[in-house]
Amino acid sequence: MNDGLLAGKVAVVTGGASGMGAATVRAFTEAGAVVTLVDRDEAGARRVAHETGVAALVGDVSDPEFCDGTVDAVVATHGCVDVLVNAAGVIHRAAASGTDDDDWRRVMSVNVDGVFYMSRAAVRSMAERGSGSIVNFGSIWGGVGASGVLAYCASKGAVHQLTRAMALDHADDGIRVNAVAPGEVDTPMLASGRDTPPTPAALVLLAEETIPVKRLAQPEEIARVVLFLASDEASYMTGAIVPVDGGFTAR
Ligand SMILES: NC(=O)c1ccc[n+]([C@@H]2O[C@H](COP(=O)([O-])OP(=O)(O)OC[C@H]3O[C@@H](n4cnc5c(N)ncnc54)[C@H](O)[C@@H]3O)[C@@H](O)[C@H]2O)c1
Repeated sequence: MNDGLLAGKVAVVTGGASGMGAATVRAFTEAGAVVTLVDRDEAGARRVAHETGVAALVGDVSDPEFCDGTVDAVVATHGCVDVLVNAAGVIHRAAASGTDDDDWRRVMSVNVDGVFYMSRAAVRSMAERGSGSIVNFGSIWGGVGASGVLAYCASKGAVHQLTRAMALDHADDGIRVNAVAPGEVDTPMLASGRDTPPTPAALVLLAEETIPVKRLAQPEEIARVVLFLASDEASYMTGAIVPVDGGFTAR
């Protein structure tokens, strides 16, 4: 269905080894993009790269030198970066009292610093060519509060504001910057940071009680929106935070 939507475009997808990042890699390759997957999980990166035929770079997006080097390597190989997707992310499930300095720094360094470092590196290259598209992963928890996920909420609020501010800064450079704000998505992150992973029955109950469409999202349902935002089909969209949440924030 999306054949050719990103034909010939050079894309970098962070967090591409799992969940929505991996679904984005698949959607982009099917749409004709030349994708480089970036993730710190070497085994996962190799698996998705092998499955989709894309290149993988293994490293940590909270390291600015790795981010600069990643963009330099992609430009050296492919001549440019047309699209950057910042999907790498982590969660810590606690209120302030259960969030120590390391927990806070870990979440902020991946979810905020990582998006900043990768985007800063990409816009240098994009601005030279006068075009580019960045899609960030925000969250419903970037727009409304939630209990027991303090650092994560703060980090995603920052991603939403970084998205808007960069959209304004780079509109004259021909660079569009948007974000998706997913709701509850069926990925490994749903179990991450919990003492006991939720049972399938508990997830069904959670969905029925809290989500208007009464089910979790599948990663592909978010990736399709990312693909649209990344493509020229969204040519008049910049600075937008697009909810993909089954109606959660419509209330
Ligand atoms: N799952 C959800 O319900 C949900 C909802 C809203 C937003 N999000 C956001 O969507 C994005 C994707 O989440 P997901 O659910 O697919 O998670 P996931 O855990 O399946 O995948 C996240 C990926 O990011 C990678 N990663 C983590 N830290 C990294 C680092 N420092 N450097 C490089 N790679 C790193 C992980 O190795 C993993 O492959 C995240 O930003 C997340 O916060 C998730």
